[in-house]
Amino acid sequence: MAEDFLASALAAEASSRALQDPDYPLFHVAPPVGRLNDPNGLIEVGGTFHAFFQYTPEHPRRLVYWGHASSADLTHWNYHAPAILPDTHQDANGAYSGTAIEVGERVELWYTGNYKDAETGEREATQCVVTTTDMEHFDKQVPPVISRQPEGYTAHFRDPQVWRDMDGSYRMLLGVQRENLTGAALLYRSTDLRAWECEGEMTFPDAGGTFDAFGYMWECPNLVRLVDEATGDAHDVLIFCPQGVSPQREGFENIFPCVAIVGQLVGTEFRGASGSFEELDRGTEFYAPQIMARSASSSPDAPTILLGWAGNASEDDQPSIGTGGWVHCFTAPRALSLRNGRVIARPYLPGLVLAPATLDGEPGDEAGASVAELAGSRSWRLAFDASYEGALSVNIGEESGLAITLEEGRLTVDLTGTRYPHGGHRVVTLDPGEAGRVEILHDRSITEIYLGDGSRVFTTRSFLLGEGAGVTLTGGASVTKVSAVRAD
Ligand code: FRU
Repeated sequence: MAEDFLASALAAEASSRALQDPDYPLFHVAPPVGRLNDPNGLIEVGGTFHAFFQYTPEHPRRLVYWGHASSADLTHWNYHAPAILPDTHQDANGAYSGTAIEVGERVELWYTGNYKDAETGEREATQCVVTTTDMEHFDKQVPPVISRQPEGYTAHFRDPQVWRDMDGSYRMLLGVQRENLTGAALLYRSTDLRAWECEGEMTFPDAGGTFDAFGYMWECPNLVRLVDEATGDAHDVLIFCPQGVSPQREGFENIFPCVAIVGQLVGTEFRGASGSFEELDRGTEFYAPQIMARSASSSPDAPTILLGWAGNASEDDQPSIGTGGWVHCFTAPRALSLRNGRVIARPYLPGLVLAPATLDGEPGDEAGASVAELAGSRSWRLAFDASYEGALSVNIGEESGLAITLEEGRLTVDLTGTRYPHGGHRVVTLDPGEAGRVEILHDRSITEIYLGDGSRVFTTRSFLLGEGAGVTLTGGASVTKVSAVRAD
């Protein structure tokens, strides 16, 4: 009998211990059971935000579905039955990552079908589509729309982003590996979303060759147009995950990085990108982010929203696997923009709004200052301004807990007082003034640090020891404009 994939996912969910786990996040998307990786098919339709995700309900048995969550405020999430099941030849080894697009009355979810021959190990990567008119019933088109990669590329051909171009035609951007084992991005065009023509590789004519042999595979490329807050000019931003690059400079400490470059896509040329690139997040866990697609009903003033996977490569050995049978979550939604050519990411949580808060004590006191409103809380949002005479320690949880040290020009994150098994201790050099504006999201086992009004972000997992709660500020800084809100 054919395996009933939906029944087995629902059975795994029915016996899930995740919600009882004190580390399970309250306002970050996390798997109902098992493993989550990339955000997929992010789209806002009719005022509801949909977040699909790479989902392995029977982890460690590797059977990859598209899980489905939705939210009215990007803060409180409802979980639905998985939307794409690995139930056909094309996706037998995983319904891999992709994006959503609204087309008239329907939404199409574009994804990569991953098939691996059990005997030969040979991989078939195809680009596939499911359609829905109600975001509840999803019809898979079989066979795939694009049945194989073009000449010159290996079967590492995946993660379609599909959007409508200015002239009304559609484009698809994919991450690929060339036969010479270097990474690239490919562009396709279509007038009807079913017959696709390969336009060729995205090229970088002004980048001095930097991106010509940049790692062995590019995963999850995403193109987005952002307006620069300083100049008012619009630019294209390419966000992608080049596997196998380790530039000789600070950062790039994770197995795989995620970078952004700024320019202008004209045809297949990404012009004006000089060859400089920045990591989107300097933390221990960040990968495969995706921009939320808009629909006809979206407000033109709505921010451009990005969600990332708060995970990296294949490190699944986090404590939650043992305590709750789940692993990984998303970052919080981030409103993206540009400031003087640099990507800015601010937390965007309409359901968790900061309010003025009070400090008990002063950071200079021996016991430090605690945020009154967050006493006993394990899930919260906090923002403040700081001016530094020395260093300010921000400690989350009991004893040293997650120890964040802020000073002019530097952020240090020490994870050694937590149960998080990776990343020990990290130092990030900051631009002048960046440490002056601080926002921290802490949600049970994930912590996101935003500095300089979104110019620097650091995401980590922060499995605290004991019942660890609240936050303490100690040291040589004066802290003003404190605002906070708790989520528990
Ligand atoms: C990135 C990625 C994608 C792929 C998916 C598989 O984390 O490797 O390239 O589509 O995850 O789960």
